[in-house]
Amino acid sequence: MILLFDFGSQYTQLIAKAFRHMGYPCEVVAGKTSASAVDLSKVRGLVFSGSPMSVNKDWTPDPKILDLNLPILAICYGYHFIASHFGGDIVSQKNREYGEAWVTKTSFGKSDPLLSKFPERSRVWMSHGDSVGGLPPGAQLLLESGDKPAAFCLPKEKVWALQFHPEVAHSHDGLKILEAFASDIVGHKPEWKMTTVLDDLRAELKLQLKGIDEVYCGVSGGVDSTVMAALLSEFCKVKALFVDHGFLREYDWSDLQGYFANFKNVELQKIDARDMFWKELKGSFDPETKRKIIGRLFVEAFYSKIPSDRKIHLAQGTIYSDVIESASNELGPAHKIKSHHNVGGLPKDLKFHLLEPLRKFFKDEVREIGKLLGLGSELLDRHPFPGPGLAIRCLGPLEPERIELLRRADTVFHRELNKRDLYKKTWQAFVVLLPISSVGVMGDERTYESTLAIRAVSSREAMTAEATEFPWEELKGIASIIINEVRGINRVVYDLTSKPPGTIEWE
Ligand code: XMP
Repeated sequence: MILLFDFGSQYTQLIAKAFRHMGYPCEVVAGKTSASAVDLSKVRGLVFSGSPMSVNKDWTPDPKILDLNLPILAICYGYHFIASHFGGDIVSQKNREYGEAWVTKTSFGKSDPLLSKFPERSRVWMSHGDSVGGLPPGAQLLLESGDKPAAFCLPKEKVWALQFHPEVAHSHDGLKILEAFASDIVGHKPEWKMTTVLDDLRAELKLQLKGIDEVYCGVSGGVDSTVMAALLSEFCKVKALFVDHGFLREYDWSDLQGYFANFKNVELQKIDARDMFWKELKGSFDPETKRKIIGRLFVEAFYSKIPSDRKIHLAQGTIYSDVIESASNELGPAHKIKSHHNVGGLPKDLKFHLLEPLRKFFKDEVREIGKLLGLGSELLDRHPFPGPGLAIRCLGPLEPERIELLRRADTVFHRELNKRDLYKKTWQAFVVLLPISSVGVMGDERTYESTLAIRAVSSREAMTAEATEFPWEELKGIASIIINEVRGINRVVYDLTSKPPGTIEWE
């Protein structure tokens, strides 16, 4: 397996995915993982990711990792760390080098195994503040960008270092470098296939759940928790709890029942917690206050249905990006933009065995597992829906009538998207009720009613997003139908903001 040390680069997941998609097993660990924690019976090669940190100023990885005698591929920050550790010269640039560059092979690069599949000259993507001024003693230059070094190796130490990011699509031949590292240098065969990985996972769960009759878990109707419950139901009865906090869409519960219709071992239970939520939320409008109250009450409602008189098995739909995110966050303070809600914040006094069967899989891999388990595309292609539900799509004071208005608008919008074949053409789409009333005219009558915003975005992992370019005629058609069908809304606007600077949800 290739072990990837995550130093906080925004591209870490891309590196891991690139290896896996090519069939090479790769796992991510936090950058501060010590050399003694590396399992030498499994790990055959190491990769150091990039980082927002600077080698000259900030923290450095455990240098004993370099004594493990494993081949290392070091990228960007990893490149600077290697250069500095082995006696090279690092210069901090005033201006970051960000964007495309062309690299050319040196005479040594022409015969190096890392570049065996890489062309003589290729376009790559740079994103760095520091640079290597002088190479460390014993280093061989492999690639140059103009007169600057772009890649070198330390043959004796089995280390290869790249200034640029081979993992991003803008580096045209970057994957050829990752492939050569995994196959020619580490000596792996491309054998990481979802079917075999799922077989291994099943074998592991069979052992873990031997003699266990039932497992509890929370389900939201989203892909991760549904796939998790479906998978666990192969081994025991799954008590799947679904909390109705009052901010669900009209179709959430019926969709969920449909997904599990063929999974006889899943016992679905809806917890009606609407009164409990409204008691604390009525009239509140501050986004963070809403999110915090909802997160707390959600945990309360969920755990009220879990027996506390005996040790139970509790499953969570944690996926790989959650694990990586929390590992990366340990490196330094990340800015909190929103308190995302999940069945987190487990009460300390409950006795349970925690199961997280999907913690090693990325979202698209979870979808693949879902497909192998027989779940349909209506679930697997479902747009994300935030845990706090319509509460964070209702701007201004939370009132039952305003949520009802938003719910009706959402139903019409959702129906129209499907009818016009637009649902699958966007990554996520929804409506937001704004705290703005404006004047309109319907028939001969003046109206003074609410404004609804349509938000539709294209994205890959929700980290960045762009407004989807729906056909103008379709958008106008949908706006007109919403206004005609939903009493209380007389104006519809379309949100054109990208993320960043905006976020996908409005709160
Ligand atoms: P933002 O608004 O942060 O959203 O750009 C990114 C993605 O996350 C979803 N989202 C949430 N999902 N609990 C969730 O499970 C939450 O509290 C939450 N808030 C936002 C959002 O719909 C988008 O897909």
